[in-house]
Amino acid sequence: MLNEQATGKASRASLHGHWSSHMAFILAVTGSAVGLGNIWKFPYIAGQNGGGAFVLVYLICVVLIGMPVMMSEILIGRRGRRNPIATMALLGAEEGSTRHWRLVGLVGVLAGILILSYYSVIAGWTLAYVYKSITGVFAGATAAEVSAQFGGFVGDWRLVAVCHTLFMGLTIFVVARGVERGLEQAVKFMVPALLLLMLTLLGYSMNSGHFGEGLAFMFTPDFDKLTWDSVLAAMGQAFFSLSIGMGAIMAYGAYLPQETSITGATAAVVTADTVIAILAGLVIFPLVFANGLDPAEGPGLVFDTLPLAFGQMTGGAVFATLFFVLLSFAAWTSAIGLMEPAVAWMVEHFGRARAQAAVLVGILIWALGFATVLSFNVLADLTFYKGTIFANIDYLTSNFMLPLGAVFMTVFAAWVMCRNSTAEELGGAGTLYKLWRLLARFVAPLAILFIFLKAVGLLPDFSS
Ligand code: PHE
Repeated sequence: MLNEQATGKASRASLHGHWSSHMAFILAVTGSAVGLGNIWKFPYIAGQNGGGAFVLVYLICVVLIGMPVMMSEILIGRRGRRNPIATMALLGAEEGSTRHWRLVGLVGVLAGILILSYYSVIAGWTLAYVYKSITGVFAGATAAEVSAQFGGFVGDWRLVAVCHTLFMGLTIFVVARGVERGLEQAVKFMVPALLLLMLTLLGYSMNSGHFGEGLAFMFTPDFDKLTWDSVLAAMGQAFFSLSIGMGAIMAYGAYLPQETSITGATAAVVTADTVIAILAGLVIFPLVFANGLDPAEGPGLVFDTLPLAFGQMTGGAVFATLFFVLLSFAAWTSAIGLMEPAVAWMVEHFGRARAQAAVLVGILIWALGFATVLSFNVLADLTFYKGTIFANIDYLTSNFMLPLGAVFMTVFAAWVMCRNSTAEELGGAGTLYKLWRLLARFVAPLAILFIFLKAVGLLPDFSS
């Protein structure tokens, strides 16, 4: 029995096919990680939380919490080779604990659905900006004109709804086609192309005359501005940007060949994701200061700054179009990851055809998306707790559901799974393995809990 289990685990076949190669997996996970989170969300959240100190906390969270969590998530996924809910149930039983671990997968599936509901709306904005760029509306525009463009656009809920619908349609299309044919093709050229374009923009912002100011804003920590809520926002952003804590990476891990190094893949993905986020900040903040804009303006930040730069460049319309096309692509490959756990679960649990599951889940997400579509116009004044409905969905998912999922995944991998299982997945019990185990057993879960409890005011203030 034991023997059978042991061989069964190593050779367990995935129900959804495999990545064609090691590189395809890295590309797909990078495709999931790199998205609106890096280019749209990171700069605006960093701006809202005062810059430097936030960025520092973000980077610390990425390394000390994000990396061990991502490794845990991939190794769980590869060992289970099912959708996140079934994987957690299966491994829970296999490792001598309980099948109730499936609840972790369930929370993840829900988080993915909720995140995609707003993610698709913002991705719809980028689609609209592709169109705007092609028509050349940004040529020579002033800061006021560019932000009037943005305000006018998001203020028209019908237009936003059309773009959201288009984006969800595209996402459903790829997910319906399945992992092999759909995902691999989409991610192969997008990340390098995006990187190149960001570097071009960087060249522009370096010449904006305010590069030093942008640099100082991002890298001079002012700890007086840092509240526990900002620390939580930094941690939540790390999870969001790395796509961890909700099962997307676990679902991708399920298709990973046994011989691929999880540590190596994690390092590559985390590096790419972080470089692109920092680059986005380095491009955007100098433009903010050069044009007298407010770094804390919120979700419109990217749409109010980058078109200004494009508007002043020679060939700007071409660059702008290319940029928003690439950003839409990046959002697309992330959206696929957000949907994958729910779809894989429906396929396995209810025996649905993949296409049918994708359409059903997609329609649900599309409908939920209207809460966000309307948060910027008709329902903009409907605010409670953290702000608009959109702000609350974002807070609930990034700052609560993802950290919660991450705690349970790391605790599961590092405490519940036996040493042999994890060492087998991570390629032996060497120094890196020990480091992972230390971070995953103690540092990551305790830090996540501590930050969360501090931010919601459940821990006393030791300093006073
Ligand atoms: N990481 C993606 C981004 O930065 C968003 C995402 C979150 C994707 C969670 C999948 C899972 O845009």
